[in-house]
Amino acid sequence: MTLVDRIVSFYLTAVRLNGRFKMKIVVLNGTSVKGITYHMKEMFLQYLRTENQITEFYPEDMPPFCVGCKNCFLRGEERCPHAETIGPIWDACLAADLLVFAYPVYALRAPASIKSVLDHFCVHWMVHRPDPKFFKKTAVVITNSVGAPNGSAQKDVKTSMNWMGVSKIHTCGAGMMGDIFWSNITDKHQKMLEQKMTRLAKRVSGTMPRLHKSFKVNALFSVCKMMHQGVLKSEDRPSLDNQFFLDKGWIRDKR
Ligand SMILES: Cc1cc2nc3c(=O)[nH]c(=O)nc-3n(C[C@H](O)[C@H](O)[C@H](O)COP(=O)(O)O)c2cc1C
Repeated sequence: MTLVDRIVSFYLTAVRLNGRFKMKIVVLNGTSVKGITYHMKEMFLQYLRTENQITEFYPEDMPPFCVGCKNCFLRGEERCPHAETIGPIWDACLAADLLVFAYPVYALRAPASIKSVLDHFCVHWMVHRPDPKFFKKTAVVITNSVGAPNGSAQKDVKTSMNWMGVSKIHTCGAGMMGDIFWSNITDKHQKMLEQKMTRLAKRVSGTMPRLHKSFKVNALFSVCKMMHQGVLKSEDRPSLDNQFFLDKGWIRDKR
């Protein structure tokens, strides 16, 4: 740890102990239904609402499916045909300390609304043009299903977050044992959800920006840097991705 890291770490700890650190939280809701997912997310936010700044997106705010034009990779993400819808989501995520994904399990996976956002974020994977601000962020994944295990659906988001540079991802899922409508939910299940969501909110409350990448993210980033360095050798003019890595000082032009 360098001296600067130590000073920043000391400052952040002092801020946290003082309770002064206000998180910017972005919530990506995978459903517009005010059902079980919505109420789980509200229980989670209830604990955090007064202290922090929260911005939410719903499926109607999210982009249509990626058309596969590859403009984002080759010409810049501003050339995406859905730049107007994905742009504000990206900007909000960039500014956030905590990224929250709340969605029901559909066909054992994340619903299409969330997958559409993840597909549009692909250009910001470490194999392309990752934003270093993501190295500092923490993510939360809240899911529910009728009964199926939630792991595969959560992994859809975890995989993307890891490849975008997020080291810490908290997950919390609930198999509802047959409950599919919030209006019919038993008191026992409601209490169980309340306990889970409050526990999760307490865990992430006051989460500070990370100072270091996890071992896994660091390893993936190192491989990506080597890959970009290798590809650069064969390029007359650096690709958008390689120019980005050069500009960040992550690779060197040895051609
Ligand atoms: C299209 C669709 C697919 C679903 N697929 C599954 C599934 O594979 N496994 C499962 O346990 N529940 C599945 N469910 C149930 C949802 O995960 C969830 O329990 C339900 O939508 C309640 O959440 P909500 O009130 O927030 O909508 C599915 C629901 C829908 C609408």
